[in-house]
Amino acid sequence: MDWGLRNRLARIIMPDTGRSVMLAVDHGYFLGPTSRLEVPRKTIMPLAPYADALMLTRGILRSSIDTSVHNSIVLRVSGGTSIVGEDLSNEGLITAMDDAVRCNASGVALSIFVGSKHERQTLLALSQLVDEGHKVGMPVLAVTAVGKELGKRDARYLSLASRIAAEIGAHVVKTYYCDGFEKVVESCPVPIVVAGGPKLTEKDALELTFNSIKAGAVGVDMGRNIWQSDNPIPMIKAVRKIVHEDATAKQGYDLYKKLCKEK
Ligand code: 5RP
Repeated sequence: MDWGLRNRLARIIMPDTGRSVMLAVDHGYFLGPTSRLEVPRKTIMPLAPYADALMLTRGILRSSIDTSVHNSIVLRVSGGTSIVGEDLSNEGLITAMDDAVRCNASGVALSIFVGSKHERQTLLALSQLVDEGHKVGMPVLAVTAVGKELGKRDARYLSLASRIAAEIGAHVVKTYYCDGFEKVVESCPVPIVVAGGPKLTEKDALELTFNSIKAGAVGVDMGRNIWQSDNPIPMIKAVRKIVHEDATAKQGYDLYKKLCKEK
């Protein structure tokens, strides 16, 4: 791996802890104005100081994020579908690699839809992205999409999708927590970050964070469970404590409650 690619990766996975808190705010790319992300700038900017990386589209980056932020940028470059369209798995590339470089991205992210009608097209897009990324030293994060029509969100399916992503050359895999998650981590030779998924209680989301780290994930790429919380800043701080300071779920939740009281 060349220096530039390793340097970019070190801006996503923090070298001092080997972990990462990524704030996922890319939902609008197929969901439009998602609840509590209607005005991206208002949601994202107050949380940015507590995230290592922001995962978002170039449109939101250019329109809504100050150029002075300390965060590294992981650019969502797959899309082309919408929640009211026919098939969410029918994604293609929506951003060229040279534009990702212009955006000063530290990584690019693309979803793969293993088990869907468009499995092949999304896996070939991943392969193309890895090849283009290598030309400019850009790491690729593959997101193992889940959905009704895809396999069950279990260790067997998530191991299959994560491993395929790594085999094709993804440098980091974003997937979902499940029972037996250690097996997913063990059989995936590149670092895994965990998505939060639909909104849970704060206590449950912090447990999911703790269990993911315990099972070997290097961090989270979490969206709704942070910014759909009534207390997003206490929530992201609690997530950070678990990810970067090896706090337990209880210690994270105690911090969350304490910060809510102080507000
Ligand atoms: C879908 C995605 C999302 O848009 C997002 O990043 C998921 O984050 P969360 O589930 O934590 O809200 O990657 O595949």
